[in-house]
This record gives sequence, structure tokens and C-alpha cells, in this order.
Amino acid sequence: MQKGQGVCRLLQVSDTHLCALPSAPTAEAPVDQRWQATQTRLMEWVDSADAIVHTGDVSDDGSAAACQRVAEGLQALNLPGQVLPGNHDEPDALLQTFAPGQPVSLARVLDLGAWQLIGLDSRQPGEVSGHLCQAELSALDEALANAGNAWVLLAIHHPPVSVNCAWLDAIGLDNAQALLDRLESNPRIAGVVSGHVHHAFETMHAGRPVLTAPAVSVQFLAGSDEFAIAPGPPAFRWLDLCPDGTIQTGIEEMN
Ligand SMILES: [Fe+2]
Repeated sequence: MQKGQGVCRLLQVSDTHLCALPSAPTAEAPVDQRWQATQTRLMEWVDSADAIVHTGDVSDDGSAAACQRVAEGLQALNLPGQVLPGNHDEPDALLQTFAPGQPVSLARVLDLGAWQLIGLDSRQPGEVSGHLCQAELSALDEALANAGNAWVLLAIHHPPVSVNCAWLDAIGLDNAQALLDRLESNPRIAGVVSGHVHHAFETMHAGRPVLTAPAVSVQFLAGSDEFAIAPGPPAFRWLDLCPDGTIQTGIEEMN
């Protein structure tokens, strides 16, 4: 797909949920086959893309072997990128495979010229819900202060807003207002992207888009107050980050 002049195109994949042992094609959730289909489609987008972000739940079981298979696919794209921990991930396993210096890494800031992607770690050990600890908020404030006149896109596993699903809202970001305070007071923050909810959701807060991505693994039913799986292919979100601070975005499904 063509992109406009001066646009930075970011691809967002999320919630791959691979396990240490690769899934069989006949598995209830053949996540390795879904990740393979996603990699193939990402390769078709790579020439028009500038960067990639994985918004967490790289693995389902926290294993390094799962992270390794996701990392191989992401690093093969030869795009600069960022990966964020989800509630299913173990930091040591992520660090082994997305170490600083790799094209796709756990680095806090991804410099995209007129834009910066600032990643946040909302994982809290042993919990499904997310939280931004004081150190993480301080790191965010420091990154925002260093961003200068760049537009900022925040990336975080747990969404900071209601996603219109009671069961998911109950396991969201438990101190979301701390993030929303920054969004409300800093006009250079042009949007927020998240994972965790396994379907695409879009809303606005303080005039800025707050978006979630569909999962590579399985999709959750949008608008459901109780846990429910929705049929649907793996998918990812693309975001065209425009020079004026606006975002064009859409979903690519692997039909
Ligand atoms: Fe997930």
C-alpha cells in the first residue's frame, strides 16, 4: 500500500503467545502457523514500512524458546523496532532475545525522525492486570522531556482506557490515570497503542487516538462482558504517522 510523503509507517503486531514447543497445525490454537502466516504478510509490507513494534505477550509461557521464534521472524524484517513485555512474558527471556543493539529490542525509545515511539513496561509479576510503577513513570517523563519537538506515540501492553469489555477492563492498566494525565497535559503525545485485548479497538482521549491491535494468536470477542473467543485470522495494525502529528491506521488480516 502506498504511503504519503513524509509519512513514517509503523507496523504493530501483538500477542503472538507462542510456547516453548511449537504448535501443531491441528492444535486448538495453532499459534506457530498463525505467526508464520503473519511473517509472510509482514514481508509483503516491509518495503513500505519504516519500523515495527510488538506490544507484548510475545510468549504464552514466558519461555526463551518462544521468544526466540518470534525474534527470528521480527529481526528478519530488517526494520528498526521495539518490543514490550506483556503479562505472559518473563523479562529475562525477552532480554535474551531482544537485547539492546538488536534491530528490534527492548529499548525505551525508537527514534523515527519527526516521531518517537516511547515504550512502557506495564507488567507486574504474577498479575494479569498492568501497572506503571514510579520508576516507569519517571522514565516516561524523562523520555518525554528528551523528545524535543518530535511527535510521540506511546506503546504499552495494557490499554489505559476502557475497551468496552467488562472482563478486559477488570484486567487493564490499574493506574491508567497516571498515563492519561501525561496525555492530557502534553500536546506532543499524539496517540497510544496497546495490545492485551486481542482485537482492534479505537477510541479518542483528549483528542488523541488510543488504539489496540488484534492478536496474532486468537481474537477475543469485541464488546463482550465475559471472556469469549472470536473466530478470525491473525492480523496486525498499520499506522501511518504523519508529519502534522496525525495518524492514519488500519488492520491487515491474514485471510
Ligand atoms: Fe495476550
